[in-house]
Amino acid sequence: MSNPWFETIAEAQRRAKKRLPKSVYAALVAGTERGLTVSDNVVAFDELGLAPHVAGLCDQRELSTTVMGQPVSLPVLISPTGVQAVHPDGEVAVARAAAARGTVMGLSCFASKPIEEVVAANPRTFFQTYWIGDKDEMSQRIERVRAAGAVGLIATFDWSFSHGRDWGSPAIPDKIDAKAALKFGPEVALRPRWLYDFARSGAIPDLTVPNVAIPGEALPTFFGAYGKWMQTPNPSWEDVAWLREQWGGPFMLKGVVRVDDAKRAVDAGVTAISVSNHGGNNLDGTPATIRALPVIVDAVGDQVEVLLDGGVRRGSDVVKALALGARAVMIGRAYLWGLGANGQAGVENVLDILRGGIESTVLGLGHSSIDQLSRDDLFVPADFTRTLGDTGGS
Ligand SMILES: Cc1cc2nc3c(=O)[nH]c(=O)nc-3n(C[C@H](O)[C@H](O)[C@H](O)COP(=O)(O)O)c2cc1C
Repeated sequence: MSNPWFETIAEAQRRAKKRLPKSVYAALVAGTERGLTVSDNVVAFDELGLAPHVAGLCDQRELSTTVMGQPVSLPVLISPTGVQAVHPDGEVAVARAAAARGTVMGLSCFASKPIEEVVAANPRTFFQTYWIGDKDEMSQRIERVRAAGAVGLIATFDWSFSHGRDWGSPAIPDKIDAKAALKFGPEVALRPRWLYDFARSGAIPDLTVPNVAIPGEALPTFFGAYGKWMQTPNPSWEDVAWLREQWGGPFMLKGVVRVDDAKRAVDAGVTAISVSNHGGNNLDGTPATIRALPVIVDAVGDQVEVLLDGGVRRGSDVVKALALGARAVMIGRAYLWGLGANGQAGVENVLDILRGGIESTVLGLGHSSIDQLSRDDLFVPADFTRTLGDTGGS
């Protein structure tokens, strides 16, 4: 067998593409419409230059920080994603990898594994919820998550049900039955290692979402839950405050790209925001999150923790986000590709690549800690930053 270790995220992506059935891989690539946002998330990082020193570098570098009260050994967290059918251990494998590398697991309500199993694998788990069902149902979900021991709640409200990709959306069955087996059989047959992993685990991907289950009822399917979400009236800012209050603990609003929204999030009492465009899965044409970050940090960075997600593929990307004021970043596709390429070890591999890249960049920039990073470490082109939303005239 060739060496399972890979040295870049790009290589993890290549391996995931080779190992996963076509439809599963296509679901991870995701993105909407033309793919402008998904691509800008990545290329915007390339526009930022680094300003290394030649001598006087530090022998030790401190990469640890805290996010919503949780210590993390590097400023990279697992962003919540529904990891349907990538690997039999799914989010439990991701949670174990995050625990092994000293960081927080973000678990999606559309995940394939129940919150109880994920918290058992990594007690530092933040549960992410969409606004699905009525308030009674949401309260019950929150109670379950609290009882399971999650240490933070992430509310993701930046979803506009836009669909259609110019490169084509994968066909995803509602459940795996004889009809689906017949339809997907040929592409699965071309990926024997993926099939072998599932066969060995004794489980087939069932495409259910156990974390939005109603007690006493059958587990909803992914599309069943999605349909209910589409029918739920959209949340207001009062609902954000209601959810935060129901939870009562550390609370992050994910999906903020506008300054006025960042200020409203502060008013709603959140602990943290993630400057995020859902990895280019919401409105196509939204600029890269790294372009929106500096103005948001200037507006609310002294009142809430500001994180960023979208397009992080290298340790130097993490450093650029921190230099522009993020406390930490969250990653999505990077760890999904690691999981697809080599299960738990693949996710650990991805976190190790990012740690190595952060170390090298902080070293070159002449710092002994990520706390010392600042805008002086970067070359930022004049037209790089985007100001989205009303800044209130200041
Ligand atoms: C396949 C896939 C599924 C996702 N599912 C969710 C989800 O269930 N909840 C959520 O808040 N964000 C979800 N996201 C968005 C990620 O949490 C994150 O914002 C995004 O992936 C960051 O961009 P990156 O993939 O370039 O790192 C998903 C992203 C992808 C690619």
